[in-house]
Amino acid sequence: MSHAPVHCAGLKPVIVQLKAGETYAWCACGRSGIQPFCDGSHQGTGLDPVVFVAEKDACVALCTCKNTATPPLCDGSHKQLTGAVIHPDADD
Ligand code: FES
Repeated sequence: MSHAPVHCAGLKPVIVQLKAGETYAWCACGRSGIQPFCDGSHQGTGLDPVVFVAEKDACVALCTCKNTATPPLCDGSHKQLTGAVIHPDADD
């Protein structure tokens, strides 16, 4: 199944405090204006957020470059993307 390109939304992760039992939707398309979370901007792209429930209270680094192999967590892949074009909006 095809989908629109994934956008790079940043070149470093966002540190967030997760609450045990809370449901989160991590933006996988890179178009959200509230990175690293989904704001619905993926509509029509064929891409969907990664929805997960925090197992415990934890401070984690969530990926914004969207190249991580361990979504939603940063795996350091952004360090390879220093020349990447960052797409700050969802218009294309
Ligand atoms: S997955 Fe990116 S806005 Fe929803």
